[in-house]
Amino acid sequence: MARRWVVGNWKMVRAQPTVPEWLQSAAQQPTRAGVDVSVAVPAPYVFLAQQLLQGSSLAWGAQDVSWDEEGAHTGEVSATMLAESGCSIVLVGHSERRLRFGETDAQVTAKASRARAAGIRPIVCVGELAAERRAGKAESVVGAQIEALLVGLHGDLSGISIAYEPIWAIGTGVAAAPEEAAAMHGFIRHQLGGSATSTPLLYGGSVSAENAAQLMSLPDIDGVLVGGGSLRTESFFAICDAAARCVGV
Ligand code: PGA
Repeated sequence: MARRWVVGNWKMVRAQPTVPEWLQSAAQQPTRAGVDVSVAVPAPYVFLAQQLLQGSSLAWGAQDVSWDEEGAHTGEVSATMLAESGCSIVLVGHSERRLRFGETDAQVTAKASRARAAGIRPIVCVGELAAERRAGKAESVVGAQIEALLVGLHGDLSGISIAYEPIWAIGTGVAAAPEEAAAMHGFIRHQLGGSATSTPLLYGGSVSAENAAQLMSLPDIDGVLVGGGSLRTESFFAICDAAARCVGV
């Protein structure tokens, strides 16, 4: 796949130096040929992102979405509401949501389906714990997460991206080794079967300006999901520059 994807994930952390300054500076960024850049902001900033990024080279989105369409679900945000706020991406099933909030594969699939129906690209996150990798279960854990998605969506992954984020690499400053990342991406690509060529596969977990180009030049890594490295524009756009160098590689 020739294109590259860079997605920022601020989590529940404010961009620096301030959110408006980050967005204003991002709005000045040039278009990078062949690179799709987006940022998943905390829900209260979606509207600000829409105001400040409209017409820029950056797309914006959210970090979670309800599996319900509408109704008495206090605290939830619907896919339609996100679409009305111009969101074109949404993270779904991030490991922090699976682990801390008990999200199940079925809920993750329902959220992805709801987002896609609203015209928003879900970025479905999968990944294994350190203990699972040590026990030789990394492929079976990730494979089960992908299988649940494939079954729940009847094999149709159009409009969906997948992010492989080994949980032990998130926020640790130690990304997966290139051979580990490449092996898991190859495994996922193979498992996707017919959807394999059209489903962007992103890597996430301690992506930085230093390691982004190496990761994105590996086979089957189409882009990156960036947490800590997206909080400052300098590092985030250095990662976007790295992605531009990897287009077509
Ligand atoms: P990190 O987070 O880049 O800070 O490791 C990635 C993520 O959780 O999406």
